[in-house]
Amino acid sequence: MDDVLDINSLSHEMDELTSFLLKDENTRSLNTEKKEFSENVQFKLDSYMTAVKLNEKIVPADIIERRKKLPIYTKKNELMNAIVNNHVLIIIGETGSGKTTQLPQYLKEVGLTITGRIGCTQLRRMAVKSVTKRVAQEQGCNIGEEVGYTIRFEDMTSEKTEIQYMTDGILLRECTYDKMLSNYSAVILDESHERTIDTDILLAVLKWIIRKRNDLKLIISSATLDSVKFSNYFDGATVFNISGRMFPVNIIYNPFQLYDYERSAAKTVIMINEQKERGDILVFLTGEDDIETLSDYLNYEYKPSSLHYNLKIIPVYSALPWEQQALIFEPAKKNERKVIIATNIAETSLTVDGIRYVIDSGYVKQKVYNPKKDMEVLTKVRVSQAQAIQRTGRAGRVGPGVCYRLYSQSQFDLFPSAPIPEIKRTSLTNTVLLLKKIGFINLNDIDFLDAPPTDAINFALTELELFEAIDKTGHITEIGIKMASFPLEPNLAKMLIISEVLGCTEEILTIVALLSVSNIFFRPKKKQKLADKAKSNFFTNNGDLIMMMNVYNQWHQTSQDKNWCHENFINHRMLLEANSIREQLLDIMKSRKMKLKSSFSDMTPVLKSICAGFFQNVAKKKPYLANRKKYDYITLPSNEVVFIHPGSCMHKVLPAWVVYQKVVTTSKEFMRGITPIDCSWLIEMAPSFNLQI
Ligand code: CDP
Ligand code: MG
Repeated sequence: MDDVLDINSLSHEMDELTSFLLKDENTRSLNTEKKEFSENVQFKLDSYMTAVKLNEKIVPADIIERRKKLPIYTKKNELMNAIVNNHVLIIIGETGSGKTTQLPQYLKEVGLTITGRIGCTQLRRMAVKSVTKRVAQEQGCNIGEEVGYTIRFEDMTSEKTEIQYMTDGILLRECTYDKMLSNYSAVILDESHERTIDTDILLAVLKWIIRKRNDLKLIISSATLDSVKFSNYFDGATVFNISGRMFPVNIIYNPFQLYDYERSAAKTVIMINEQKERGDILVFLTGEDDIETLSDYLNYEYKPSSLHYNLKIIPVYSALPWEQQALIFEPAKKNERKVIIATNIAETSLTVDGIRYVIDSGYVKQKVYNPKKDMEVLTKVRVSQAQAIQRTGRAGRVGPGVCYRLYSQSQFDLFPSAPIPEIKRTSLTNTVLLLKKIGFINLNDIDFLDAPPTDAINFALTELELFEAIDKTGHITEIGIKMASFPLEPNLAKMLIISEVLGCTEEILTIVALLSVSNIFFRPKKKQKLADKAKSNFFTNNGDLIMMMNVYNQWHQTSQDKNWCHENFINHRMLLEANSIREQLLDIMKSRKMKLKSSFSDMTPVLKSICAGFFQNVAKKKPYLANRKKYDYITLPSNEVVFIHPGSCMHKVLPAWVVYQKVVTTSKEFMRGITPIDCSWLIEMAPSFNLQI
């Protein structure tokens, strides 16, 4: 981390020094301790004097210098002119050129904060937080003052906020209650090249808004790619190129000729450490599992000799605690080599300086949706050529670099050239509900950059009708409006709404909050048996969701004891997060004057509410056949064979009917988050759901 002068603590220390000097005015003999104290403050005062005033804020000189070194700075004046003279501007620049951190500040300099906020979207919560921290430093303020951020369930903005970073999902949600985005004078859609569904929808909504709002600046910023496509979409909007500094990167294919990319990655890291000159390493893997495996291996199994660098291993994936994520930007010590092991988040969302070597597994985890099965599955897929090229580029920012691709050139040639936009491969139910709430009755009126598949739209419409969120004419209903007011997937929102009718909001609030965080059960690789045993103590015949609720309630009985969590292999941080989400959902319910009630020991209303949210994920047990040896379930109405996950508390109970939270595909298609139901509830909770039981 850069050595940043902390102005707040400094001024506190100055106050202390002053009062201390005043107190001791009469006694001129300072003892050593006091002398040291004053010298220390004097040193800080010297650095303070070199700090520069920026917009009445004190910003240390080194931070100002650092901003001037970014590639975007060389084009600052031209860029500011382009911002002033264009309603819509497309900005293309290499990762690390300074787009995300500098653009909002330049917009502020041209005076755009006078009439409203500058909003800048990011694709990932982690990127939102880290970039806000950086820009707050550059503006000399605390997070939440002039520079703030909003992510789901966390709003760090205030009356003072001029620059607001947020996820694209948050801005889209904002459109549902402020259609014209009247709080903003400028919107930057950052990282549009990744074409997430929310960015694509925002592009369409903003295209519609700017026709009505001449005073709203729209900036589309992208690391590379299709500037022509974006420009055409916005009627020939100006494209501004920021050339980044790029050094040549040597590409080496399949260095160890192994098929197993995890082993290959480990060998490559060690080879670099033992044979190559100084420079940090960035490894692209797919998710928590493979990242933790490689981190553990390099941390505990590999012992570099005194001739080589010690490895400083930094895993990076979205479920990591925030404090750990901050390590990414800390430079390596003299005898260290940093090894960042990351998901595709490090492709463009986070720029880490000092990388000389990139190792690319060639894989990424992607949501793959099958509308016929109505299943959304997170699967490992090949990256596109464009992504592989982005990854390679990460090695050439500080000097010439090397990229080790853990696949062959002929495999690379078969990769798709660009990723398929998410809008073409995801469930649209939530998006369609938000569009309805914004006021689009007929979705054919919307001008998309790439239109979503008709099948998926129709499926979403049917699903919303089943939820009774829209009526037969396609208009949003009271239930739909209520559902859209919760920052939740439609099925969870529906569960909450039904729980009010059934008198069990207290229970369902907890369950919905728990379903909004990652797994609350820990299962460390080396202690799997112990962890499974601990989990089995919580098993209940009411299913996995009620089991999680029981864990949460017991944790509350221990006054949220961290040790209790540790002993029971429960993730304390996740429970804390669920707790805070619960509070926020509770606030929304109160503001909508919803009735809060508990069903106490009666679990039927709770199970029924779960059924009302998950009725489409229903599966029925097939009759036992000796030759099959196992019980399989069959989903309805799609008739897919699925199994109960071995970690589920329903694994031995085998109820006749279940609803599940999701299907994960490993060796088989396993249902997770399973709740037993009575099949008559399906008719009660979703009358139009045609099951032909
Ligand atoms: O958006 P773009 O990739 O063009 O660049 P950026 O994110 O604005 O990053 C500009 C510089 O700020 C890079 O050198 C980053 O390493 C640095 N940065 C940082 O040190 N800490 C952050 N949280 C974000 C950026
Ligand atoms: Mg960026």
